[in-house]
Amino acid sequence: MDRVFSGAQPTGNMHLGNYLGAFRNWVRLQDNYECVYCIVDMHAITTFQDPKTLHAQTIEAAAAYIASGVDPEKSVLFNQSQVGEHAELAWIFNCVARMGWLNRMTQFKDKAGKNREKASVGLYVYPNLMAADILLYKANRVPVGEDQKQHLELARDIAQKFNHDFGVELFPEIEPVIMGEATRVMSLRNGQNKMSKSDPSDGSRINLTDDQDTIAKKIKKAKTDSELLPAKAEDLAGRPEAINLVSIYAALGDMSKDEVCAQFEGKGFGDFKPALTELAVEKLAPVTNEMAKLMKDPKHIENVLADGAVRAKAIAAPVLAEVKAAIGFVR
Ligand code: TRP
Repeated sequence: MDRVFSGAQPTGNMHLGNYLGAFRNWVRLQDNYECVYCIVDMHAITTFQDPKTLHAQTIEAAAAYIASGVDPEKSVLFNQSQVGEHAELAWIFNCVARMGWLNRMTQFKDKAGKNREKASVGLYVYPNLMAADILLYKANRVPVGEDQKQHLELARDIAQKFNHDFGVELFPEIEPVIMGEATRVMSLRNGQNKMSKSDPSDGSRINLTDDQDTIAKKIKKAKTDSELLPAKAEDLAGRPEAINLVSIYAALGDMSKDEVCAQFEGKGFGDFKPALTELAVEKLAPVTNEMAKLMKDPKHIENVLADGAVRAKAIAAPVLAEVKAAIGFVR
């Protein structure tokens, strides 16, 4: 059976973008694949994290996955740092990947900015750890957003070079799984920027911890334009904020953007926003309520993660053993 692996960092609040772009799709994959879902806390520390906050946000992330429908019985759900094999394989991949490959990574350039010299070494080799995450489970299907595609290509190159250098067929080909409508949810304040937990404006995103009134207020204040909605989605071109709200509606309602436009053709945002609010509240309430319930019992979530780590290790340890044998390590 094909195996799915995906992960998200426990930095900042979980929001609508995480839900529509990631969690909801992970849930759908559970029925057809063996799925491994990871909270990548070791990726998180490539930039400094306050320990208490990191701990709390790891619990919050687990609650968000579960509340969204990730079933810890069906899938393996764990946090990365509890499975030491990730770090071990990442070291080996540090010795397989080439400097030149990492130098091409646009996310490092964006995140490090002008101050490259002050970025952590971990931030630079971050994609090698990501390759280790995936390949440790011989996962061949990896659902990610557009921004992670370059990292997946690197993971593919690492797998190929490893297989080639050591004359083995150990690692499979990785296929990115591209997700449906609104995989890229944009900021409510600026349709050019991705909805992000690191945006200083809380009004730019809908958090999975927001209550109904807050959701309503944020949608009401969302940036829009004064034009009407067209009959076809293609005629939204050049209106990033309008596209974003229509995409969110489409994703929440399991519709295409064309269907949303057809429904609201000729209407302005004064009509569209209340409809969007109603849909958002209806679809998100079960998730946010369940999440709030789960967060009341952090011990339970810790137990779920510990159990997931044991199951993850059971898959990862034999693969790492194979890798070590291929390299020639005495065991
Ligand atoms: N780098 C991913 C992100 O920031 C998170 C991640 C880490 C991941 N390891 C992964 C995603 C393995 C998919 C597979 O979104």
